[in-house]
Amino acid sequence: MESHNSSLLWVLMIIFVSTINISFVHGLGVNWGTRATHPLPPNIAVKLMKDNGFNKVKLFEAEGWALDALKNSGIQVMLGIPNDLLGSLASGVTVAENWVAKNVSAYVSRGVDIRYVAVGNEPFLKTYKDMFTNTTLPALKNIQAALIKAGLGRQVKVTVPLNADVYESSSGVPSEGNFRADIHDLMISIVKFLSDNMAPLTINIYPFLSLYADPHFPIDFAFFAGTNAPVMDGSVSYTNVFDANYDTLVWALEKNGFSSMPIIVGEIGWPTDGDLNANIQYARKFNQGLLSRINQGQGTPKRKTLSDIYFFGLIDEDAKSIDPGNFERHWGIFNYDGTVKYKLDLGKNQTLVPAKGVQYLPRQWCVMAPRASETDPNLADSIKYACTYADCTSLGFGSTCGGLDARNNASYAFNRYFQTFNQQKSACNFNNLSVITKTQPTTGKANCKYEIMIDVGKHQKARSPGTSAAADAEAGKSFGCFVMAVFLLISLVA
Ligand SMILES: *[C@@H]1O[C@H](CO)[C@@H](O)[C@H](O)[C@H]1NC(C)=O
Ligand SMILES: *[C@@H]1O[C@H](CO)[C@@H](O)[C@H](O)[C@H]1NC(C)=O
Ligand SMILES: *[C@@H]1O[C@H](CO)[C@@H](O)[C@H](O)[C@H]1NC(C)=O
Ligand SMILES: *[C@@H]1O[C@H](CO)[C@@H](O)[C@H](O)[C@H]1NC(C)=O
Ligand SMILES: *[C@@H]1O[C@H](CO)[C@@H](O)[C@H](O)[C@H]1NC(C)=O
Repeated sequence: MESHNSSLLWVLMIIFVSTINISFVHGLGVNWGTRATHPLPPNIAVKLMKDNGFNKVKLFEAEGWALDALKNSGIQVMLGIPNDLLGSLASGVTVAENWVAKNVSAYVSRGVDIRYVAVGNEPFLKTYKDMFTNTTLPALKNIQAALIKAGLGRQVKVTVPLNADVYESSSGVPSEGNFRADIHDLMISIVKFLSDNMAPLTINIYPFLSLYADPHFPIDFAFFAGTNAPVMDGSVSYTNVFDANYDTLVWALEKNGFSSMPIIVGEIGWPTDGDLNANIQYARKFNQGLLSRINQGQGTPKRKTLSDIYFFGLIDEDAKSIDPGNFERHWGIFNYDGTVKYKLDLGKNQTLVPAKGVQYLPRQWCVMAPRASETDPNLADSIKYACTYADCTSLGFGSTCGGLDARNNASYAFNRYFQTFNQQKSACNFNNLSVITKTQPTTGKANCKYEIMIDVGKHQKARSPGTSAAADAEAGKSFGCFVMAVFLLISLVA
């Protein structure tokens, strides 16, 4: 009897412990964008995800080197299809079959755990002006058919990652939520198709962009710490924009007969540079607030438990388009090289751990020559040139390197360029205004550093910069995200 009891106890404990494990890792996902001049080597990036409890990853397109690194990693993959492929995928099922064969079946058979194919990326952003409204649903259907034909219909689900401006609320409160009038019927067709195929809807939610778009946005409503001016929706009180936004979608679905449609949050996060409100303090506050909720299994007023959430993003990307704003290159939870930006409590007494094994270029920098004059007529053009080809988004107003003195300003730009071009001698030659130094320079400003880039040559899976089209797929995100619903909510608050 006693041994029976104790084995029962063990079984219960194992169930208990594995439940805890599941609740810790459940739905902890991250976007792995790769628009960087010096991308973190894929094997190191995958290890970084695993070490920090990310067991789901979203890729913006099928890049072989990234998928290869995910083989047998235990990480589940949502694989994106860029918008520019939607037209051809919509044109015939054979194109979709080829895409699935080459980009899904081939990797699944090699041990990549692909769970979702994300068809398009925010294809209905208002700024795209209907460019993809005719092709998204046919492409979705063709991909679904191709997956079934490939024998992957059960294992791999389709979805469409949408920006939050596909729904809105006429009065501003979530319960008035519905799909945007111009795409209402299309959204219903898509949701119905996903529902028929037991597939989820995916939505990207960006409270940062609410703040970016409207300086009067009540800042504490962006975070999860409560607010002294909650938005009342009937008897329900909304203390943060995430809940309000998410529930606007839940109401929209419910109103159209899809009350139990699963919703994945495909992108959510906060950038750390490139804007006054893009800073470490806010990013930490937002991501920690969200993480704590995930770990506590806390949902929104309308959905008691949330499905998978993919943070945006894993690392900074210095080659992303900055059309939406300078902050675009600074969404990483980690710096470009996998070092930790700020402390996050991951639950279970774990905090973020950095990437291991990264190899850097030699310890040398390109700075403004001491003999060069700040009034040299070539200086401004030289800085401009450096910043055209290298990432100077940290130099802007309100950014980590904003307000440097003229000398450091020039040095920062020169060094960025020099590092971006792998420290070639010729990359430190700005009309004789610069010199290479082996003495580590300091900018005089906290958080503003003269960086050294990763030595991509020393890492096996290195590739040349700028070979992917993913950035363009990602770039449009910031427009339109925040939604009439939110602005109206704000006017209610005000
Ligand atoms: C596989 O995906 C890549 C990246 O999106 C794309 O360039 C390529 O055309 C796809 N292959 C096929 C056969 O469609
Ligand atoms: C989408 O289809 C409609 C109806 O056939 C057509 O009028 C419209 O021009 C198409 N839009 C695009 C962007 O191709
Ligand atoms: C949590 O971490 C701290 C510091 O590393 C350690 O002292 C403490 O024992 C840990 N607690 C648990 C429950 O593991
Ligand atoms: C720093 O460089 C930028 C880019 O050329 C320029 O706009 C700015 O005025 C410079 N700031 C100082 C203090 O020189
Ligand atoms: C840079 O300096 C070298 C050597 O002093 C000189 O020959 C060259 O003309 C200078 N170039 C420029 C652009 O000033």
